[in-house]
Amino acid sequence: MTRLFHRGRDLPTAVSGEGCWITDAAGRSYLDAAGGALVASIGHGDEGVAGALAGQASRIAYVHASAFTTAPVEELAERLARLLPMDDPRVFPVSGGSEAMETALKAVRAYHLARGEPDRVIVISRELSYHGNTRGALAVSGRRSLRDPYLPWLTHSEKVPGVIEYRCPNPAHPEACATWHAERLEEAILQIGPERVAAFVAEPIGGAASGAAEPPSGYWEEVVAVCRRHGVLIVADEVMTGVGRTGAWFASQHYGLRPDLVTMAKGLAGGYWPLGACALSGQVARTIEGAFPHGFTFSHHAVGAAVALEVLRRIEEQGLVEAAARRGARLLAGLTEALADHPHVGDVRGRGLLVAIELVEDRETKRPFSRDRRIAESVTAAAKKEGLLVYPSSGCADGLNGDLLMYGPPLVITEEEVDTVVERTRLALGGLA
Ligand SMILES: Cc1ncc(COP(=O)(O)O)c(C=O)c1O
Repeated sequence: MTRLFHRGRDLPTAVSGEGCWITDAAGRSYLDAAGGALVASIGHGDEGVAGALAGQASRIAYVHASAFTTAPVEELAERLARLLPMDDPRVFPVSGGSEAMETALKAVRAYHLARGEPDRVIVISRELSYHGNTRGALAVSGRRSLRDPYLPWLTHSEKVPGVIEYRCPNPAHPEACATWHAERLEEAILQIGPERVAAFVAEPIGGAASGAAEPPSGYWEEVVAVCRRHGVLIVADEVMTGVGRTGAWFASQHYGLRPDLVTMAKGLAGGYWPLGACALSGQVARTIEGAFPHGFTFSHHAVGAAVALEVLRRIEEQGLVEAAARRGARLLAGLTEALADHPHVGDVRGRGLLVAIELVEDRETKRPFSRDRRIAESVTAAAKKEGLLVYPSSGCADGLNGDLLMYGPPLVITEEEVDTVVERTRLALGGLA
């Protein structure tokens, strides 16, 4: 009996971690191929980060952001501003991805209000997306299993089709898929009325809802053109893809995308502190300055910022963005080759160290397993028995069905460890063949 309200069953107790490895109280070690939920960006047990955390906590841990600023939050904003694909960005640090999304959505609203366009209230997002579990972020998310119980409480948002090339809804696929998606977006904007549309929210590369799905070639160029034509702000949710994960500091950079707002979390503090941030372009920030009633008790946290600065330093010093690209390519190639003949591996996709395997009941027709079989969860359990941690997800086929194994190991993963991930995955999937 435990007093803790757990999120899983029969959970081992984690006691220590180093690099890509976690050890439990029974002495078993696990290769962390998912970084938890794609969080542990620089690996576990980093003494330098622990030292930065302790040092800042002993100097000054907490001040309220309306009363003081601190050196680490100022420096973090400065550092991020140099890395972000945005014009003259400003950074609003928070405690996680959902808070970052709430901040972005409210900033969008404040922007249109300040510009005298109060009717711009509709946010358009995509099916097969995930933006967080708070009610605003969930409202713009496209994951039915998470949304459905709370539907009466979710604010109205419009959805355009999800973007997964493996399951592309464009009737002419693979011809002109980018144009097809951009047309659906423009159609939605015109139907709602451009004067009522506030923002388009999307992950530059899909996360757990779509399974690391890259957009078709030209997608972002065409989507940006549509948004700009109608005065619709672009919010890039980089909570999962940001801070080096996909082999660029921000995934937007792969596509020349310069969003108006960018959210980030997960890898930003590498799991050493619950941290997120919303970055606003200079134009958005200047427009809402003094007219943005928003904040959280723990926003602008000095210890979180000191931790993130050390994480960013590690990523820079060790060249981990380039490493993510190289190791990710090895992981993608290794999984693709090892599982080429597996009857239930439909697709292996991703970019950098954001990789997913989509499992299907029938490879020919791409028919997904029925959700009640909980295939992703049972393969994840089999992997854990092999000493491999992956992150299960579902819903990529139709919002409900569609089993995914997500990979997002620490960016410090070695080639040898990548090969171990591939081998243990093969063993874990043996039971499904
Ligand atoms: C793309 C994306 N946005 C937002 C979130 C929400 O972040 P958090 O769980 O830190 O609130 C997540 C979490 O998985 C995510 O993947």
